[in-house]
Amino acid sequence: MPTLLAASVHRFSSLPSTNQKAIELARAGAPEGTTVIAEEQTAGRGRFDRRWYSPPGEGLYHSIILRPSIPPAAAPVLTLLVAVALVDSLKSGYEISADIKWPNDILVMGKKCAGILSEMEATNEELDFVVVGIGVNLNQRVFPPEVGDLATSVLLEAGSSCEPEEFRQRLFGQLDSCYQTFKREGAAWVIEQWINRSSFAYDRAVSVDLGQGRFSGISCGLREDGALLVKTGDGRITSVVAGDLVQWT
Ligand code: BTN
Repeated sequence: MPTLLAASVHRFSSLPSTNQKAIELARAGAPEGTTVIAEEQTAGRGRFDRRWYSPPGEGLYHSIILRPSIPPAAAPVLTLLVAVALVDSLKSGYEISADIKWPNDILVMGKKCAGILSEMEATNEELDFVVVGIGVNLNQRVFPPEVGDLATSVLLEAGSSCEPEEFRQRLFGQLDSCYQTFKREGAAWVIEQWINRSSFAYDRAVSVDLGQGRFSGISCGLREDGALLVKTGDGRITSVVAGDLVQWT
């Protein structure tokens, strides 16, 4: 029975970005669980200022306002929590086995099926809110050339089309249950769940783009704040708080 996230749902046929609308609502005091959904986004955004391809009817584009009592530095764990809920929704609803590329790319057979963009605001080291934006490729058969072979959809993987609201309801249930457990048991529980669902947590050779440079190493777990631990050739372990895995084997 959903409780924590059973707040109001704002639906739009078109928005520039559901995250932007949710941030506006959060700044105006909207409660935890407030959800913004759009049938299409004209300026859907991804991590690192990338664009999120958001054509009408083909994907799920929605954002949820969360207001947990945690320090801002702990907020990235919420993104990991959503990734766990997405993997479980794909499995339980569509028999799709998905992987999580750190921190939040949902991959199916190596191709991206969903992504999460969390944006937060804090005052004096107190978290005001986190907007978690979730984009899921549902019914695309083809993707634009810039995405090309790197993306997939529920339709392509499961072989049948998927109704956005049905997927959202399923995800909502998983998310609500994960969020309640997180509030009871803390970040360590989320990290454990994430590690259980990701092939990237341990023993993957990865190349990490930090924005101002790259380095390579072997993944060796996650810190409790969600940072990826990477062991470099000199034996040192680096914690990656914000970065992008650009190559992996
Ligand atoms: C990524 O993988 O880079 C994150 C993509 C997140 C896309 C979603 S779609 C709904 C929400 N609104 C946005 O503008 N972005 C997120």
